[in-house]
Amino acid sequence: MNMLLKTLKTAAAGLLIAASAHASTGPEMTAHEAPINRHDVASLQRGAALFVNYCLGCHGAQHMRFNRLQADLGLSERMISENLIFRGSLVKDEYSTDKVGETMKASLDKAEAKAIFGVAPPDLSVEARVRGTDWLYAYLRGYYRDDKSATGWNNLAFPSVAMPHVLWELGGQNKLVVKEFDNKEIAKGAFLQTHVVGTLEAVHTRKDGKETVKYVLKYVEPDKPGKLSVHDYDVVVADLVNYLDYMGEPVKNERIQLGIKVLIFLALLFVFAYWTKREYWKDVH
Ligand code: HEC
Repeated sequence: MNMLLKTLKTAAAGLLIAASAHASTGPEMTAHEAPINRHDVASLQRGAALFVNYCLGCHGAQHMRFNRLQADLGLSERMISENLIFRGSLVKDEYSTDKVGETMKASLDKAEAKAIFGVAPPDLSVEARVRGTDWLYAYLRGYYRDDKSATGWNNLAFPSVAMPHVLWELGGQNKLVVKEFDNKEIAKGAFLQTHVVGTLEAVHTRKDGKETVKYVLKYVEPDKPGKLSVHDYDVVVADLVNYLDYMGEPVKNERIQLGIKVLIFLALLFVFAYWTKREYWKDVH
């Protein structure tokens, strides 16, 4: 059985490698794993506050109701109403309970946003499932200054992105560094050492019938510091990604528990069924 599993795993890995080798047209991006933990409630609470403060202005999360945060993240209704729901309640002390049952809607109208940015900011309810948490971690750390873009920002994980760097006050400004290598191994070594986000691309050029390959390494490097250190900014981004991941599947933890209950039920059922069978057949033999 173990042997069979191993063989299957090797075959699957082989297929994956073959598939990715085949599809490798764009640059390769450093794959730093997002340091998140969906059972860390304090991190999820901080992530929720960040999301509401910095993202909900443009992005909605239509599958997420504010009052879910009560049960899942241990926030009180008053806390949600006063600290997370800004729209409508200008008087801080006056909080309405029915607003807590609403879904997270963007403040900015879709058409208005499209007119400003050229693209409507997508709903982020299931974004973590679409892009993956590692990509989000790279994306929110991958912004750099670019005077040629409309917003003044560009992003290594999402080139020419229409979204500005909304967390720049916290994270500061990065600059882009571009380096060219002739040797693939040296390029790869430098690529693996990039701390924040880096990309590596093999660029083929043909001159007088002779093909040359250059390995272009791009990475972002802190230029002007923000309110937070690079490390503290990484923690902020991780909290935000943790929250986006939770939002994509808030019932995941419950589902695991339900699965366990079902298995216990089936095990008990089996014991009873077996016992009944023995009772019935006792007199036959
Ligand atoms: C000022 C408006 C604005 C704010 C605030 C904003 N975004 Fe965006 N965001 C956009 C726009 C516009 C796009 C579409 C970019 C594109 O397609 O080029 C976008 C795209 C994205 C994407 C990529 C979606 C995809 O898969 O194509 C992610 C992820 C994202 N935003 C996350 C966030 C997070 C997290 C925050 C809060 C920290 C945030 N955004 C705040 C405007 C905004």
